[in-house]
Amino acid sequence: MAADVVQPASLLRRLRGPLLVLVLLLAPTAVWPELFAQLGDTLDSTARVARRVLAAGIWLAGAWLVVRLVDAIVWDGLVAPRLGGKVPGLLKDVVAAGIFALALTGVLALVFDLDVTGFWATSGVVGLVLGFALQSMIADVFSGIALNVDRPFQLGDWVRLSNRAREHIIGEVVESNWRSTRLRCVDGTLVVVPNGWIAREIVTNLTRPRVESRFDMRFCLDFDVPVERALRILEAGVRSARGVLADPAPKVRVYGPTRTGVEYEIRYWLRCAETSPSKGRHAVACAVLDQLHRAGLSLAYDKHDVYTAAMPPRQLDIRADREKILHRVELFADLEPEEAHTLAAAMREVRHGRGEDVVRHGEQGDSMYILVEGLMEVWVPSGRVPDAKGPVLVGQIRAGEFFGEMSLLTGEPRSATVRAATEVVAFEVRKTDLEPLLLARPALAGVITAKVAERRLRSQRRLAEADAPPPTAQETQALAAQILGKMRSWLGVG
Ligand code: CMP
Repeated sequence: MAADVVQPASLLRRLRGPLLVLVLLLAPTAVWPELFAQLGDTLDSTARVARRVLAAGIWLAGAWLVVRLVDAIVWDGLVAPRLGGKVPGLLKDVVAAGIFALALTGVLALVFDLDVTGFWATSGVVGLVLGFALQSMIADVFSGIALNVDRPFQLGDWVRLSNRAREHIIGEVVESNWRSTRLRCVDGTLVVVPNGWIAREIVTNLTRPRVESRFDMRFCLDFDVPVERALRILEAGVRSARGVLADPAPKVRVYGPTRTGVEYEIRYWLRCAETSPSKGRHAVACAVLDQLHRAGLSLAYDKHDVYTAAMPPRQLDIRADREKILHRVELFADLEPEEAHTLAAAMREVRHGRGEDVVRHGEQGDSMYILVEGLMEVWVPSGRVPDAKGPVLVGQIRAGEFFGEMSLLTGEPRSATVRAATEVVAFEVRKTDLEPLLLARPALAGVITAKVAERRLRSQRRLAEADAPPPTAQETQALAAQILGKMRSWLGVG
């Protein structure tokens, strides 16, 4: 095209208009003196005006000619081939405006004998004021020139303009002029973007250097979906999407694990002139979701795993949980389930109010008690305590402990009165129920006799003096051995 422009014939054709005007204006000057002499002195002022008009016309026609020459030789002949396309109209206009401004200065200075220094100074001030007032518009215009020279995009290109906040506009460039660039967006709107704004944004040309551009989309699938399966399904999805190019081929990659599942990235190529980015995204999303649905998979979502188990019993029932209660009593903790079952079935539940005696000192007794709930006090008559006014408190029985074992084991009368200090619930174990156990488990007899010995000694000490020290281990053992012998003969065991 450029070579065509510099052809003489073509050049002449383009210069025809200004040349004709220039020749027409210059022609009168050849016959000027004669022409004005004939008009006479009276028409002198008219002649002066006509001369100035003619001269001004010659200046402006000359400027026009220069503009055309610059157009043909500089822009189209030299610059266009280097730019590889049309020279931006905006640039040509600015240069043309400069040439006309110079011509105007020539007219003012040489035709009208005016001082152009004042003109330029005034225009400088005016320019300054205008510059401030039209700051953004001027920025847009100059950005427009820069864009035209830089050519980040051309008409018909698809571009994405992104700002720092990562918001973006995607559209097809349909016009780019002095002040703004118009994009036809995928939502059917026409967006007018000031050139100054474009100059500050990141411009991604989706159709250059190649007409295909790559897009990506991520899907998150559950951890338990095998990766190779996920890749297969997602690839099938993206490949079946309308508008997605087969070459370059779409790809699916593992992007990485997230809190919800494994994220996969699908990369696909579109020709934006044929399939807009949003249409492509829609097609890919639909096709992938369809493939996932067919494979019986759903996208990963936030979830919590909850495992259920039978709730352990929160409280023991005195009637239903007799065996468990028995196992909590130190004395019977090691019973076999069968033994515990038999003993639990034989026990009798007794309840007493506060202040009631469960066992009375001196009475005969052939049963012992396991205290389940409440507190008991053990009282012994003060017979041998000189200054004691009444019975002496020798001990307490707490829940889980037993009492009344001494008479049961030895056949002796009750050694103390055991009184309910609160409401109490206890199990009564009769001699006949305990005997089989003592026969089967000699160790049980040992534990009970040790307790009997310890209590007996404690009571004796308590009766002897108020602050008596607890019985020693030897004392307890010696007494326990005696009691054990007595017990064996009484119960007929061992
Ligand atoms: P037993 O003699 O059959 O009846 C009274 C019960 O009181 C006795 O068995 C023991 O179980 C209990 N007992 C006697 N002395 C004490 C003591 N010092 N501490 C705790 N309990 C005792």
